Amino acid sequence: MSKNTRKKPSVAAWSGRFSEPVSELVQRYTGSVTFDKRLAEHDIRGSLAHAHMLAACGVISKRDVAAIESGMRTILAEVRSGKFKWSIAAEDVHLNIERRLTALVGDAGKRLHTARSRNDQVATDVRLWLRDAIDALGLQLAALQSSLVGLAERHAGTVMPGFTHLQVAQPVTFGHHLMAYFEMFARDRERLADCRRRVNRLPLGAAALAGTSYPIDRAMVAEELGFDGVCENSLDAVSDRDFAIEFCAAAALVMTHISRLSEELVLWMSPRYRFIRLPDRFCTGSSIMPQKKNPDVPELARGKTGRVTGHLMALLMLMKSQPLAYNKDNQEDKEPLFDSVDTLADTLAIFTDMVAGVEVDERAMRAAAAEGFSTATDLADYLVKKGLPFRDAHEAVARAVRAAEARGCDLPELGLAELRRFSPLVGTDVFKVLTLEGSLASRNHVGGTAPARVRAAVKRARKALK
Ligand code: ARG
Repeated sequence: MSKNTRKKPSVAAWSGRFSEPVSELVQRYTGSVTFDKRLAEHDIRGSLAHAHMLAACGVISKRDVAAIESGMRTILAEVRSGKFKWSIAAEDVHLNIERRLTALVGDAGKRLHTARSRNDQVATDVRLWLRDAIDALGLQLAALQSSLVGLAERHAGTVMPGFTHLQVAQPVTFGHHLMAYFEMFARDRERLADCRRRVNRLPLGAAALAGTSYPIDRAMVAEELGFDGVCENSLDAVSDRDFAIEFCAAAALVMTHISRLSEELVLWMSPRYRFIRLPDRFCTGSSIMPQKKNPDVPELARGKTGRVTGHLMALLMLMKSQPLAYNKDNQEDKEPLFDSVDTLADTLAIFTDMVAGVEVDERAMRAAAAEGFSTATDLADYLVKKGLPFRDAHEAVARAVRAAEARGCDLPELGLAELRRFSPLVGTDVFKVLTLEGSLASRNHVGGTAPARVRAAVKRARKALK
């Protein structure tokens, strides 16, 4: 027999039913305290609310509650100072705390679990924990949005090429481009807030699965813990983790947006673009190539998007086909959920700082916008305004572009006489629309790229962030 599977006496809370203890390996396999101990503070809050309710309903005495409160104060201090002795033999965070409580206060500790099961307890803990995490992430998203707004304001009039298919399409302002991300993160915040409404329901009272025969007051517990209401069906309350899945879906979308921004930062930093510089503190060098400065942070964020999306898949697969009600499968919800929150929190903090530190090479951006005939649409629109049907204008400009390409110059450099060969409607005023500034200024409507519109969007954003 291997060392891992050797029998060891167990002190499990449920050991009364069993004729032999579990092996060390099984203990390690089924135990969750190594990772669910981070629910400790929320577990204690939930237990105190439960104890208060039990006393109010006459199920336990006031003396018991006082003892539980004082024991929990000690435990909380031990947890916070790192002195609490977590034991895998006690399986999970709930039984570790209960065991310590009983050691501290005796029978009152043993009465705490009346009218409760770890099934409704753990569901409550995770919801409380996730609610706090969502609130913190919401603030972090807003901070990242602020960074974007600051950079957008500084570059409301900075010209860059806008791309479709990664080919130069039309000139845009860098500020406008950044504000696109502001919008994405605004929707992400909405999604988190919406998810929070469904997270914020109390499972306690469902007990193991069927409810409890004690005269409990679930609304009182919900109120003390700040829940908006109770889960209405006990079987559903202990078994579904859809709220965590929903959160991970929202988190995966945030990371997806981050990964798009990351990809752009990586491209823009490449010498082929040279649009931006990232502060050195977000880059690393190469151990062999002395000249290298690599955008490791955005690359890693791009990679971590796969990790968070993987957690979403893991939770979906975890839930799939589980019969009602609680199954131990659900213990596997925690690591993906915790890691999604941690990864997102770190990523958002880093990006908030990094975006604020982006330095822009305006000349390189402008030069790139001047290449690739980015004002061709403006020339077509100009001809339409002079009376030519759009399809004919498109055709005329396409021929002009071919001529310019053959000559290796941009459209305005063809000169008036040459441009008139493609349409006699071209007049001297054409050069106004062929400039980058003219093109930008003309897109002056809500959602457009004109510098004036970017400044207005920045103003709206600042107000929304307050
Ligand atoms: N550690 C368990 C979990 O995370 C707590 C609930 C255990 N319930 C049970 N009946 N074994 O899901």
